[in-house]
Amino acid sequence: MSTVIDAETQAEARVLNGTLRKFRRVNEIIGKHGKDPSNLIAILQDVQEEYRYLPEEIMTYISTVMEIHPSAVYGVATFYAQFSLEPKGKHVIKVCDGTACHVRNSQWIIDGLREHLRLKQGVTTTKDMLFTVETVACIGACALAPAMMVDEEIYGQLTPDKVKEIVDEIIAKEEE
Ligand code: FES
Repeated sequence: MSTVIDAETQAEARVLNGTLRKFRRVNEIIGKHGKDPSNLIAILQDVQEEYRYLPEEIMTYISTVMEIHPSAVYGVATFYAQFSLEPKGKHVIKVCDGTACHVRNSQWIIDGLREHLRLKQGVTTTKDMLFTVETVACIGACALAPAMMVDEEIYGQLTPDKVKEIVDEIIAKEEE
């Protein structure tokens, strides 16, 4: 019985420590930029870089510390496409479906990639949180169409096989 309680207490302590660390980091970010509401976007950008999305509890915390109404913080977070309210994978793959890529069969690339990562319809992030797949408009590499970006790197003249190779290489590196 006491072993069960100990395990529960330890688990609670771990969660509390994690939460404290999280809010401490958010305090550092707010401290870096300052509490002026004009700094909200920069603060949200840094929070997103840290957590790869904007967790709801952190947005609420930011609104309290900065004395901004929660709906204003939420409004900014939902207005800009750069912000995500959903957790994203470690690697974000942006497959271009702009005009140049579309006419060079980007759908073929998107379908192949999603199938390779076993993403069900409507799901964009793999279960292991390694990849998020998004479809975007032009990424500025039309001459290389069809193209995609993995994190900050651009890959062009894609075929479904080439996309599989790129993804498998990342998976292999992650497993090293
Ligand atoms: S349309 Fe795809 S890179 Fe421009």
